[in-house]
Amino acid sequence: MVDYSFKEDFQYKHENPYHERLGEFGDFVLRDREAEAFKDIWNKEVFKREGNLFLEIGTGAGHFMIDYCVDHPNDNFVGLDYRFKRSFYLAKKLAVLDLKNFRYLRAKGERVEFMFGENELDGIFYFFPDPWPKTKHNKKRLIQEHFLNSAYKALKPGAIFYIKTDHDDYAAWMEKEIKKCGLFDILLESKDLRLEHPEHLLSKYTTGFERIFLEQGIKIKAFVLQSKKVS
Ligand SMILES: C[S@@+](CC[C@H](N)C(=O)[O-])C[C@H]1O[C@@H](n2cnc3c(N)ncnc32)[C@H](O)[C@@H]1O
Repeated sequence: MVDYSFKEDFQYKHENPYHERLGEFGDFVLRDREAEAFKDIWNKEVFKREGNLFLEIGTGAGHFMIDYCVDHPNDNFVGLDYRFKRSFYLAKKLAVLDLKNFRYLRAKGERVEFMFGENELDGIFYFFPDPWPKTKHNKKRLIQEHFLNSAYKALKPGAIFYIKTDHDDYAAWMEKEIKKCGLFDILLESKDLRLEHPEHLLSKYTTGFERIFLEQGIKIKAFVLQSKKVS
């Protein structure tokens, strides 16, 4: 199947009942291309306040998103995932939070360059991405040249990109892709985050999938990247 996700004329196409049901949360949920109307104006037009703007890709059940937003009321946070049912159940959890310092997007991470303007983001979080382990599927991995370029563009000079994975092969792939693109300094690289960096921000938060991996004795691999962009 051809992946049109990087094309300007890309259209989200689907028929899913949860897409409609997500409409119930229109005060903080944006679906598909709705988010792209706010490229460059997230703080001004959406959050209507100044603040550091963070993006989490692949929020899943939202453990990190919720904990981080509660701990950082002054940050503006955008979480996104493309799975419908998961998005709906996360939206239900987000709806009861008092402080709406976040927006939730039912969207694809591949669209980051269409959702955020140049130098708009203060940081990106990407935890336990789908590893696409079969060689013929490796090309679907998000961490590769095109996406890294898009993320670099959207991030401010010196901004941070945090990554965690359970998957050894994807971690090795990421390291290669990050070094090849040359856009980020690797501030931290760990093959066993919890042992080597127990005090780090990345160890402070445990995502839903991470809990399962830790229970299985899987070591958490992590990268902290810093944009080499200078202002
Ligand atoms: C293994 S789960 C991890 C979820 C969560 N980060 C956690 O650690 O519990 C991967 C999540 O990323 C989402 N995802 C994978 N590829 C994505 C993409 N290209 N754009 C948006 N979400 C994506 C999946 O739908 C899934 O919810």
